Amino acid sequence: MGKKVTVVGAGFYGSTTAQRLAEYDIFETVVLTDIIEGKPAGLALDLNQSRAIEGYETKVIGASTGPNGEGYEAIEGSDVVVVTAGLPRKPGMSRMDLLEVNAKIVRQVAENIAKYAPNAVVIVVSNPVDEMTALAQLATQFPKNRVFGQAGVLDTARFTNFIAEELNVPVKSVKALTLGSHGDTMVPVPSRCTVDGKPLSELLPADKIEELVVRTRNGGAEVVALLKTGSAYYAPSAAAARMAKAVAEDSGVVMPVCAWVDGEYGISGVYLGVEAELGAQGIKKVVEDKLTDTELAGLKEAAEAVRAKQADVAGL
Ligand code: LAC
Repeated sequence: MGKKVTVVGAGFYGSTTAQRLAEYDIFETVVLTDIIEGKPAGLALDLNQSRAIEGYETKVIGASTGPNGEGYEAIEGSDVVVVTAGLPRKPGMSRMDLLEVNAKIVRQVAENIAKYAPNAVVIVVSNPVDEMTALAQLATQFPKNRVFGQAGVLDTARFTNFIAEELNVPVKSVKALTLGSHGDTMVPVPSRCTVDGKPLSELLPADKIEELVVRTRNGGAEVVALLKTGSAYYAPSAAAARMAKAVAEDSGVVMPVCAWVDGEYGISGVYLGVEAELGAQGIKKVVEDKLTDTELAGLKEAAEAVRAKQADVAGL
């Protein structure tokens, strides 16, 4: 049997994720679901009609779902489910402003995943992502390694782009890293940033690096402010799709993701942005690496900030 991946939520984030996954041509089936009648089926039809041009065989199926789980049969047997369901930010909103409204949506989605795709690996991208990931794990009761969130790949890609633009070098010359939360306590890690192997600190003054760090931390809000309606989706979907691909291919690739941390960096019992090896069962292991004292303190601060909020979601 070929691999099957589901994307829940057919907004821009979900539909572009489905497109990327289909174009990889590694899945037998990509399922796209939404509560809107007809939209996922229409997008699936459109994507399938692009197959002859783009040259991929993956079949896209669109399914509308109802309040009592109607339509979720379509996700049966999924190896991976990417959860994009929920509202995006409006200009001026923080991701945390979405907590209550998206908690209701994500909880319901997660319960249906547990029922219809009990063996799936779940990748959460709905915001606030650190909290929604914790909630999805609670609501599915899946082992913690099988539920994780997308943030670090995106934030790292933003940081990489800003560094490449600043130094006018190819993005592929740049290695960057962000850890921590997908929010105010994001921890860009300049000590792990290099350009063609040279430490970033030898190429840019500290105040310039700090400027790029701040811009990275506000990377999502900067796009939201320009779009006026909705939030970013090209870079976010690229990140989510690569993570789903790593799971489907059992690749063991290391990416910064929102994973359950159990002792690493002296932090326990919280979903937090750390580097992890991804495979068929989700998180194979959290990878701990050297951080400066300031970066480690930032990571601990992020852990405490998200720990408090993750405790709140249990009751939502
Ligand atoms: C962003 C949203 C998707 O950072 O969280 O663009």
